[in-house]
Amino acid sequence: MSFREDFLWGGATAANQCEGGYNEGGRGLANVDVVPLGKDRFPIITGQMKHLDFDDKHFYPAKEAIDMYHRFKEDIKLFGEMGFKTYRLSIAWSRIFPKGDEAEPNEEGLQFYEDIFNECHKYGIEPLVTITHFDCPMHLIKEYGGWKNRKLVGFYEKLVRVLFTRYKGLVRYWLTFNEINMILHAPFMGAGLVFEEGEDQDSAKYTAAHHELIASALATKIAHEIDPENMVGCMMAGAAYYPYSCRPTDVWEALEAQREEYYLIDVQVRGEYPNYFKKQLERKGIKLPILTGDEEILKAHTVDFVSFSYYSTRVSVSAENDEVEFTGGNIFDSAKNPYLESSEWGWQIDPLGFRITLNNLYDRYQKPLFVVENGLGAVDTPDENGYVVDDYRIDYMASHIAAMKDAVEIDGVDLLGYTSWGCIDLVSAGTGEMKKRYGFIYVDRNNEGNGTLKRTPKKSFNWYKQVIASNGENLEMPAE
Ligand code: BG6
Repeated sequence: MSFREDFLWGGATAANQCEGGYNEGGRGLANVDVVPLGKDRFPIITGQMKHLDFDDKHFYPAKEAIDMYHRFKEDIKLFGEMGFKTYRLSIAWSRIFPKGDEAEPNEEGLQFYEDIFNECHKYGIEPLVTITHFDCPMHLIKEYGGWKNRKLVGFYEKLVRVLFTRYKGLVRYWLTFNEINMILHAPFMGAGLVFEEGEDQDSAKYTAAHHELIASALATKIAHEIDPENMVGCMMAGAAYYPYSCRPTDVWEALEAQREEYYLIDVQVRGEYPNYFKKQLERKGIKLPILTGDEEILKAHTVDFVSFSYYSTRVSVSAENDEVEFTGGNIFDSAKNPYLESSEWGWQIDPLGFRITLNNLYDRYQKPLFVVENGLGAVDTPDENGYVVDDYRIDYMASHIAAMKDAVEIDGVDLLGYTSWGCIDLVSAGTGEMKKRYGFIYVDRNNEGNGTLKRTPKKSFNWYKQVIASNGENLEMPAE
């Protein structure tokens, strides 16, 4: 057997992409609520367009999402049927502290997640909790400017203390910030940043990132103090960068692009800013607001494991190579790799790139890894009963799990688990669409929010069940 016996197979979701119930249970408004479907989504999530309230010109998919707020029992039961060992979900901060800066938490919000965790344990499912998956109470954005403001560290500290105390014994695995490097690419989603005219955007992003790094280290400290059994991980949008060609300038470009994504994880794992990053700041004339004691905090409270999402590799190209075609891929673009096929959204499909990414991360950090997102966003066509034959998804996942197996079995990567992204169809973070589906479970809802919300297992449901039951040995396509 290549995967450890206690390998944590499962699936992943994020509160804002599945819960809905945006104004129920005392929940406050958050950045993720006001991010609409359509062409304004991108300028809003990147902080270029200020949009802090609902209007009647847009449709806001997170308001209802797939209504997991009311249906989590049914959904977790289906996860249990697939044999999940873990379920990765996130906490909506504004359910616990509706404004973010209150003295006392909201009991209804705390109870909601407690019910979810209890439901998971009923099926032997270990919760894996992302403390913040792109969400930030709107009040903290309007009043304090989001993570640019050091005060957010204190509010986050309060949040995590409440969570670790309340859920002691119920939750053991924690991730501090989803895809922390997304601050650099989608700063409104990653850190509640909206840029003012003429503002030094790099400086704002690195400052916000510093605050999240301090908050993450403090969360690690508090988690360990409250329960030494707690395991805390960082989480990055992972993907190896390839040089477009062996032209040395392309190779250099790829190295620099990769470092930009690594620098935050370098801090979370090694406990200090890497020299290449410090030099880069010097060149840009940016001074981080590092307070007395910050360096010690970062050094003393490094993470227990490294988690990441993987969808595709990226290709870097130097300015000397013109006429290169570009393609999409998890918010940030990539040059098109002529050797790879792409998904319907232009994300390049590269199972060997997954093995390469696993090896790069393990070589660099020598810490246990956890794959917490991977999957194929595709258009599904259900039959009249809502059943989807999604062989394309099975093919994608089987090839990626096989590559992950090679990384473990042949290369010796230490891997704790694998949670596929969007194990039940949910709202896309990048586009706001429902049509971009990742799930083993079909949800009857379209981009405009119409549909019965009925859940129907797809063909991949039984396939994944068989993968888990065989601990990743049987990746065969099941019969119809
Ligand atoms: C990751 C995020 O970036 O990719 C998820 O952590 C997101 O929230 C996932 O949904 C897939 O991206 P998209 O844009 O297809 O939803």
